[in-house]
Amino acid sequence: MGPLIVRHDDPFNAGPPLDVLCQSDITPTELFFVRNHGDVPQIVPDTYRFTIEGAPRALSLSLADLRRQFTPVTVAATLQCAGNRRQELMAYQPIPGELGWDEAAISHATWRGVCLRDVLLAAGIEQDDRAWHVAFEGFDQTERLNCTFNFGGSIPIEKALNPEVILAYEMNDAPLTAQHGFPLRVVVPGYIGARSVKWLKRIVVQAVPSANYFQAQAYRLFAPQVTPDNVDWNSGLMLGEMSVNAVIGTPANGAELPAGSIEVRGYAIAGGDRRVARVDLSLDEGRSWITADLGGDDQPWTWRLWSARLNLAPGEHTLIARAIDSAANTQPEAISSVWNFKGYMNNAWHRVQLTVC
Ligand code: MTE
Repeated sequence: MGPLIVRHDDPFNAGPPLDVLCQSDITPTELFFVRNHGDVPQIVPDTYRFTIEGAPRALSLSLADLRRQFTPVTVAATLQCAGNRRQELMAYQPIPGELGWDEAAISHATWRGVCLRDVLLAAGIEQDDRAWHVAFEGFDQTERLNCTFNFGGSIPIEKALNPEVILAYEMNDAPLTAQHGFPLRVVVPGYIGARSVKWLKRIVVQAVPSANYFQAQAYRLFAPQVTPDNVDWNSGLMLGEMSVNAVIGTPANGAELPAGSIEVRGYAIAGGDRRVARVDLSLDEGRSWITADLGGDDQPWTWRLWSARLNLAPGEHTLIARAIDSAANTQPEAISSVWNFKGYMNNAWHRVQLTVC
């Protein structure tokens, strides 16, 4: 995994250098961040099957069944880990036991597969079965609280029946790699990455959200005053849709630059089916703003790379970025207002310190 910065060896977790990430709309697969909670399972594609349970018709499908019975679709989607930008939260107040992700636990790819909706309809789910959840389980095993179990999570059936949610067997025009879920993974555009379950083993249609640790306990957002000692694990918000976020990719935090015109580049993302409407930059703590140029396409589920030219006078500067989405949501100003003891969903204004000589 040459070009990646390793955040944890075993299980393997890594992300690209931030400046490289912000150079291309589609992240090359070898640069795509990797988030694993257990070992990568070795799956033989010829004998691989996954099951659908809890629906009127139970199904067990091979890859060949999937390709033969359902129409292929391609979806462009950005995956972002709920722990993206955790390092900034950790610098504000320690977060023991969690990975110190920088701003590069996010990447963008084109995914090819079949609509989950088509598979659910084939299993007899009716379009108006709305009070349900669709749970996913992977083949990988992990250990938490002295139990060994498979990674899993769920999404509401309203989302599962949307055409953008797919069972993907290809990423960037090639079969999925082992790290990214070969031979089949779920891709849930607009949701935190944890719901895009890799190495798909089982889909269960059920009345309640998944009881899997990674749905029921982890990936919940708790209030700032909640600590590991006083937490009621049922009280936090179960994370689903991502929130609006913008990050400065270059220049890097701490960079020393010559005075004059500089190019600033970065990414912005909106959650759910919202789009990025605008990215603003400020050099005076938010008293005045400059609007950046958005690249890429105006569509949901995908990030927008952005750029701007700024004139910098000699001295110390704090450059700030914030995004606004199509529902006019924007980002909170201070890290202190988003800090939580699990370190999720940091979307405070992104700041880089620059020295201009
Ligand atoms: N699926 C399984 N089976 N096991 C995992 O550990 N990690 C999840 C999700 N799907 C995970 C999984 C998390 S937290 C994220 S952010 C994304 O996969 C990351 O996908 P990637 O490794 O392809 O970037």
